[in-house]
Amino acid sequence: MLKNDGKVFVLYDENFQQAESLSKQLGIPLITLNEIDDLKEGFFLAWRDNRLALFDIKSQKKGLSVEFDIRCREQASWPAPKTGVLAQALGKKTKTVVDATAGWGQDSFHIFRMGYQVVSVERSKIMAALLNDGFTRLESQNWMQQLNLKSPKIMTGNAIEILQNIEHIPDCIYLDPMFPAKRKKSALAKKPLVVLKAIVGEDEDKKDLFACALRVTARRVVVKSPNYAEPLDGKPDQSFAGKLVRYDVYFKK
Ligand SMILES: C[S@@+](CC[C@H](N)C(=O)[O-])C[C@H]1O[C@@H](n2cnc3c(N)ncnc32)[C@H](O)[C@@H]1O
Repeated sequence: MLKNDGKVFVLYDENFQQAESLSKQLGIPLITLNEIDDLKEGFFLAWRDNRLALFDIKSQKKGLSVEFDIRCREQASWPAPKTGVLAQALGKKTKTVVDATAGWGQDSFHIFRMGYQVVSVERSKIMAALLNDGFTRLESQNWMQQLNLKSPKIMTGNAIEILQNIEHIPDCIYLDPMFPAKRKKSALAKKPLVVLKAIVGEDEDKKDLFACALRVTARRVVVKSPNYAEPLDGKPDQSFAGKLVRYDVYFKK
């Protein structure tokens, strides 16, 4: 499933117990700093500043971790107003959302912040571990504790299988699969997305995931895609475009 399976490691450093248990949990090998120096490419997971981060072996500079930043003034206003194109696409009657392609969790968080009940599904165990670390830290933020809020639940595995056996059918299933870049080496591609692509590949089964989502959802499927991409399943019932991305909505018939 992983595009570069075998090229992601867990750093074996002073947190060796934590490292060993993560390596077992993810089924990926441990590596020491000395061994890393002999490698030309790949990624490693390590804890820095109390967060789990993914490092590119080539640069080793700043790792990527799952972060949820909100501005101070916003904190008092939870849930955030359901405004903007994403909220329009999710629909007024929607209360529950399964984000079937959670990745770095930014969309899950955005949807959660607007007061929807969210379940996040991610098939890459590595991404799910990073997400779990991010959601755990989110729960320790003051505003989450004051409002007694729990982070979205994470389900690790292929959403095509998970959705078919899901206990609570959601009003909306949200999909943000990987789309090929417009140009081969797009200067606009953001680093987290570039790293994600290197780790998980191109999501070639996105049409199967869409078909499954439409079968399972109670009301609608929302597909996020770059503005230049063709809709995933022909003309959508509704479409809401932002500056760079578009949310295509398909209703359950
Ligand atoms: C473009 S990223 C999503 C980014 C995410 N929306 C965010 O805000 O960070 C796509 C993610 O969906 C995951 N994914 C793709 N197909 C999946 C499937 N069938 N089941 C579970 N996860 C899937 C990939 O592993 C990848 O992490």
